[in-house]
Amino acid sequence: MPRRISDEMIANICDENDIIDYVSQYVQLKKSGRDYSGLCPFHGEKTPSFHVSQEKQLFHCFGCGASGNLVQFVMRTENLDFIDSLKLLADRAGIIIPDNDDSFSDVNHEKKKRILEMNKYSARFFYNCLKDTSIGEKGQKYFVKRNIPLKTITVYGLGYAPDSRDSLIKHLNEKGFKTDEIVEAGLAVRRDGRIYDKFRDRVMFPIIDVRGNVIGFGGRIMHENKEINGYKIPKYLNSPETLVFDKGKNLFSLNLAKNAKANELILCEGYMDVISVYQAGIKNIVATLGTAITENQAKLMLRYANEILICYDSDEAGTKAALRAIDIISEAGGRSRVIRLKNSKDPDEYINKNGIEKFREAVKKSVPATEFKISLIRNQYDLTNTDGKILFIDEVVNIFTKIKDAVEVDAYITKVAEDTGISRNAILSKYKEKTSKGSYRRIPSKTEYQKKNEQKKQNAIKKNIATGSLLEAEKRLMGLISQSKKLYKSVCDKIQPDEFSTDVYRRLAKAVYDSYQNDISPDPAMLLNMFSGDDISEASAVFYNLEVYSEDEATVRELLYTIKLEKLDIRINSETNAAALAELFAEREKVLEEKNTWEE
Ligand code: UTP
Ligand code: MN
Repeated sequence: MPRRISDEMIANICDENDIIDYVSQYVQLKKSGRDYSGLCPFHGEKTPSFHVSQEKQLFHCFGCGASGNLVQFVMRTENLDFIDSLKLLADRAGIIIPDNDDSFSDVNHEKKKRILEMNKYSARFFYNCLKDTSIGEKGQKYFVKRNIPLKTITVYGLGYAPDSRDSLIKHLNEKGFKTDEIVEAGLAVRRDGRIYDKFRDRVMFPIIDVRGNVIGFGGRIMHENKEINGYKIPKYLNSPETLVFDKGKNLFSLNLAKNAKANELILCEGYMDVISVYQAGIKNIVATLGTAITENQAKLMLRYANEILICYDSDEAGTKAALRAIDIISEAGGRSRVIRLKNSKDPDEYINKNGIEKFREAVKKSVPATEFKISLIRNQYDLTNTDGKILFIDEVVNIFTKIKDAVEVDAYITKVAEDTGISRNAILSKYKEKTSKGSYRRIPSKTEYQKKNEQKKQNAIKKNIATGSLLEAEKRLMGLISQSKKLYKSVCDKIQPDEFSTDVYRRLAKAVYDSYQNDISPDPAMLLNMFSGDDISEASAVFYNLEVYSEDEATVRELLYTIKLEKLDIRINSETNAAALAELFAEREKVLEEKNTWEE
């Protein structure tokens, strides 16, 4: 459920953090005029064109156009979404954001905080136990055996849970946590009226969310027998779901992978797979938490990457899971490819056998999801006989009916025809037959495509028309009125927010007008929070123009005339009716005359 943070809280968080202070962690800033400037962190440059204004609490790069407020700076540098960036800034300023989410009442807020604290203490405890040879020697030896050096242990905060009934419970008791709380955090279990540490004699893998909280653990036994004294024991034991741990909503190592800022994210099955690949230098890799991938996890990954490279185990279960993952990712609106590793059970084994370069090659050779599906089906049929061909085509066409892009379907039909010697027409008619039955997702018809295209064209025309002087004038006008109530007053009855030419300007104008009407001076940095993506730069540029505007009524009048005349010219250019055209020309004359009289 998306959480809403009140505007007041947002303002509070922004007030408590200074943009100069924060940006200075990334950029060496020098005072230059009213601003500070330095080398842009978002593109390579040798002369500083990156400006930060303390007064406006905004940044702007005149080189690459990156622009925005502090929250947006955090979003870009830390690769976090809006809410998480705000949380980071709140933490930095020691502000607690109250939880408005219904599923987390205030009571739970306190509880969640306590669980996170217990998890943090536990992670440290396990880590220290591993490093202490008198306790953790077994764990140390296990990691050596698995080619995990100390450096990786530190990066992942790996640990060892001692072979003891209650050493963690005691440790947490000493830190002030009650035993009931420890059970609720999933760190201890009740059995036959007694309480035990949940993790005993296991190497420990802390699970950390994108904000850096330890939300749970996975613990692995250090031998391969899954049975002791007749009891089945799981190879990996994971924390149960708690107030802070939802296995379907988090991913192992995403906290590290997000910093790689790659276009693709590799998804695999095991903690050890992720760790092996990561320490070999490929950092954009995550794993699910012992359960099948969910749509939430797919969406989470797609926040950080355009494409998911599925690298599941090469056994039958792994292949089935990969097929499932392909569909889930596609339902979440994303694309995926499949990495296939020959002669190895999983990525960890593959790297230990063949080295990272071979793994890189396998990544390069990853195949698009559809191709992977087709190849699996192909292996099931004998294409040298007719029956095999018919069954094969039938299944393959089922896959095609799920593809949304008509061009892609067409390309695959051609490819399958070439590969099998079955005629293109035969496959196509089978495809048409299936899609027309309506039992599958319908491919948009040509006319729908055309409609979409037309819409696109129209939008492009609208955008093109409103370029150059009109946009420049609107931009300057907005910049001026957002800084001066006096100028706003002389403009507000002459141009309405919805008369501005772009969506961004209209929204911005509306917010500026609303602000003044409520007797508040508009705050540029706060206004920018309405926008996301490319819109941020367009809006931010309004407040950041190299030119120094002369802040007077005359400039405003001039700008208003420019806007009026430019708009008339646009209408004149597209008008084909002679009578209407004559009227437009007359109007234009009138405006020009008015303007000249005013200028004299
Ligand atoms: P695997 O059995 O493939 O193990 O389980 P692995 O990751 O290769 O581990 P190693 O190499 O034997 O150490 C894949 C993932 O499934 C979950 C874990 O998250 C594991 O990383 N799993 C597996 C469990 O949760 N419980 C289990 O008993 C086994
Ligand atoms: Mn493995």
